[in-house]
Amino acid sequence: MEKKEMLYEGKAKKVFKTDDPDLFIIDYKDDATAFNGLKKGTIAGKGVVNNRMSNLMFSMLEKEGVPTHFVKELSDRETVVKNVSIVPLEVIVRNTAAGSFSKRFGVEEGRKLSSPTLEFCLKDDALGDPMINDYQILALDLATKEELDTITKMTFRINEILKNFFLTIGVDLIDFKIEYGRFHGQIILADEISPDTCRFWDVNTHEKLDKDRFRRDLGGVEEAYAEIMKRIGLN
Ligand code: TMP
Ligand code: ASP
Repeated sequence: MEKKEMLYEGKAKKVFKTDDPDLFIIDYKDDATAFNGLKKGTIAGKGVVNNRMSNLMFSMLEKEGVPTHFVKELSDRETVVKNVSIVPLEVIVRNTAAGSFSKRFGVEEGRKLSSPTLEFCLKDDALGDPMINDYQILALDLATKEELDTITKMTFRINEILKNFFLTIGVDLIDFKIEYGRFHGQIILADEISPDTCRFWDVNTHEKLDKDRFRRDLGGVEEAYAEIMKRIGLN
């Protein structure tokens, strides 16, 4: 399968058409941004980590019955995926308080939440991805009631699968962001699952093994991505 015309270049990946209208090729870059593009940098090897890790996570979820856009890994940075139309929502699950949740509610980072939370943000860089609730999503026709129910159920199930998997490799899944797409009328998991889109803390030391090292200038960014790769058994 070959890349044809580039459809879209985002902050962390490029998307290409292929001969098959149902399939796209994603090419993961090393470019990193934070704070809605305000902070820019490069994380050497990040594209490889995010590509290979996402594919492993999607394969694992598929085995557990979660439909995803993953089709086939082509190379270290390139993957064939289904051509979905993205539901314009960032779907965020939290198991432990951190980041914007801690800031918004004045809760210390690291406080275990009594139950996982679900948040939706509208995917709109110009507006800074504002939070949006179920009623607002339905009122704006961003998803149907049925789609929203599917997304909600699937997301909590994905959280359970991922949380349990990461615990087996000594990683606490603090929170993560996923995105969904529509493919021939069905809601499927899309985008990526990587240290860019999840918070991973070492279970014992609570060391951060994710993009927060870049966002917060903590150093050891590449090392953190490499450590996660090693723990998930890639490399
Ligand atoms: P937050 O605490 O900054 O809201 O982030 C929650 C989770 O979402 C965290 O795992 C990082 C991820 N995330 C993204 O994937 N993309 C984004 O643009 C932001 C702000 C967060
Ligand atoms: N990548 C996102 C941006 O630049 C934010 C983040 O991951 O923190 O907006």
